[in-house]
Amino acid sequence: QLGVFTYDPGYGTTASCESKITYIDGDEGVLLYRGYPIEQLAEKSDFIEVCYLLMYGELPTSAQLDKFRVGVTRHTMVHEQIRRFFDGFRRDAHPMAIMCGVVGALAAFYHDNLDINDEHQREIAAFRLIAKVPTIAAMAYKYALGQPFVYPRNDLSYAANFLHMLNAVPAESYNVSPVLERAMDRILVLHADHEQNASTSTVRLAGSTGANPFACIAAGIAALWGPAHGGANEAVLKMLGEIGTPENIPDFIEKVKDKNSNVKLMGFGHRVYKNFDPRAKIMKETCHEVLGELGIKDEPLLDMAMEMERIALTDDYFVSRKLYPNVDFYSGIILKAMGIPTSMFTVIFAVARTVGWVSQWKEMIEDPSQRIGRPRQIYTGAASRDYRPVDAR
Ligand code: SDX
Repeated sequence: QLGVFTYDPGYGTTASCESKITYIDGDEGVLLYRGYPIEQLAEKSDFIEVCYLLMYGELPTSAQLDKFRVGVTRHTMVHEQIRRFFDGFRRDAHPMAIMCGVVGALAAFYHDNLDINDEHQREIAAFRLIAKVPTIAAMAYKYALGQPFVYPRNDLSYAANFLHMLNAVPAESYNVSPVLERAMDRILVLHADHEQNASTSTVRLAGSTGANPFACIAAGIAALWGPAHGGANEAVLKMLGEIGTPENIPDFIEKVKDKNSNVKLMGFGHRVYKNFDPRAKIMKETCHEVLGELGIKDEPLLDMAMEMERIALTDDYFVSRKLYPNVDFYSGIILKAMGIPTSMFTVIFAVARTVGWVSQWKEMIEDPSQRIGRPRQIYTGAASRDYRPVDAR
């Protein structure tokens, strides 16, 4: 039985809440899901088991896992009318814009008779979100391609079903490669939860008002979209593409160090980690594994990323500010090798993080001491003063 962790934020902000779900030690580069090190879960577990762990706090028995898996898979399809939402979007709409709209719209289908104070109804809402978000994500991708939507397949694993919905077409059979299934599952595990990050805090704040979970998760998706948060994986690939060759890295680093440039090294730095993000280490290893198994000998982007990491970790600007690669630095290279376009990178982050958002929302609703979130402020505006008519101004 681990000792009770005293939650010391220690990085200049006050603790916003208590939680039993995820623990981060930013100085030591430690990440635990319900006490289990992310390194062990990434190697030995899989995403549906991690979903159970995050939701209920313990690793499941075989029977519990089977029941949970059925509970989720029975909700993988979306109402047929949801398909018509897509006709309102331009084909070139960013898929995160579609995710914000369509996931939020789930509230219109499931909100009316949802009592969030009823444990069973809370659990069904959680299953619906974990099950339907990948279906909607894949629909957003197919809509952009102009290809027909692919229905979910409950005989496949969570990762395989997601890849099948992304890549299958009615005109021919599509078998999910075990390499891609394992890579996608690993990416989903690594992104599943991460304590009180910006999007999770958004979900908790929205949920603290009693808003329905579908609207709360849509709010989390909106917050995740920002390039400083989940949008960074897409921004890393854009950055590496703009730099072009390893020879241009030193000039880019100099631009980053110039405060007037407002240029950031995307995929580097973290509000909490002042050491390596443990997920970045696993992602880098996974990158090498996947590229090797896919027979991709030389991926210029990986060479660029590794050279950039080498230079940055020896440069005083980064070392003195404790800036290390974070989860987003290598993930995009794996997703690109899997044939997924950059516009879908943050969508995949949202698919993974839905279980974290839902688990944190559930924990908050079930906390009897929970009250509405109401952050206060330090007022720096004008002192009280009297109104003056316009001709006296
Ligand atoms: C995620 O919170 C979470 O847990 C998030 C996440 C999750 O799983 O939910 O881990 C996912 O969002 C990872 C972060 C992805 N974002 C990026 O990779 C974008 C690039 N990173 C930066 O934008 C930045 O590092 C942040 C936003 C992540 C953190 O910003 P902070 O808290 O302001 O960073 P800091 O306080 O550590 O900065 C200290 C100094 C500052 O310079 P000085 O004022 O001291 O001169 O370092 C500088 C910053 O300007 N700095 C960077 C930098 N990150 C910080 N300079 C260049 N490049 C960077 N990436």
